[in-house]
Amino acid sequence: MPSPQPQRTITAAALEDLPYIVHLQRIWSNQVGFLPKSALERYIDSKNTLLVKERGQHAGYLNWTVTRNGLLRFIQIAIDPPLLRTALGTRLVNFTEDSARRNKCSLIRFQCRTDLFANHLWQALGFYPSAIYHRQTARRKPCLEWTKNLIEPSRFFPNGGRRVGLCQTTGPSNEDEDLDATTPNEDDGRVSDKRPSPPMS
Ligand SMILES: CC(C)(COP(=O)(O)OP(=O)(O)OC[C@H]1O[C@@H](n2cnc3c(N)ncnc32)[C@H](O)[C@@H]1OP(=O)(O)O)[C@@H](O)C(=O)NCCC(=O)NCCS
Repeated sequence: MPSPQPQRTITAAALEDLPYIVHLQRIWSNQVGFLPKSALERYIDSKNTLLVKERGQHAGYLNWTVTRNGLLRFIQIAIDPPLLRTALGTRLVNFTEDSARRNKCSLIRFQCRTDLFANHLWQALGFYPSAIYHRQTARRKPCLEWTKNLIEPSRFFPNGGRRVGLCQTTGPSNEDEDLDATTPNEDDGRVSDKRPSPPMS
């Protein structure tokens, strides 16, 4: 008799998963933006896309970049609509976070439009709002940047690791320029790749 499918599994996505990822990106396009197939393929090729399955069926994905300086930035996270609020998003984020710690990353970041319910997830998972990016037109909602420190900040910063206040900005901060492989697209807030990132184990 074949052994039963485990309830939930998390694996690196393969190219055969691309049609599902494109499909889920389309469903949530207003939330996650649009990445062309070629970009999604690059995240898969570099092992920077995780797929979560529920009883063997696709249930969601998460992709990210990592800079040489140890900043891991989530690019997109999306869960199948019927499976929302069943902790799949938490599983994907926690899995990536564990891997990031093993790979000595120091920070995880993600940008999220202020009107999206996804902001609740970041707060629930212990991220803190570190910056707000205003758009060029008032019609467009600002983006909140959520951060989690993976390494005790007092080891690095002369102020003993105290959190500074929420930074108001209309563009990437100097720290981002220095640390980050992705920057917000000035026009619509999506992020775009600038450099390939090292794969994560
Ligand atoms: C954001 C997203 C990935 C969260 O995934 P999820 O699997 O539904 O989230 P989880 O079940 O792990 O939620 C963990 C906690 O986050 C908070 N949370 C998540 N979604 C929430 C919502 N819609 N409203 C309020 N709190 C929410 C809750 O505290 C929740 O714990 P609880 O269910 O025990 O109360 C999912 O809603 C999604 O795919 N959204 C569409 C795409 C998107 O917005 N991506 C992010 C773009 S910025």
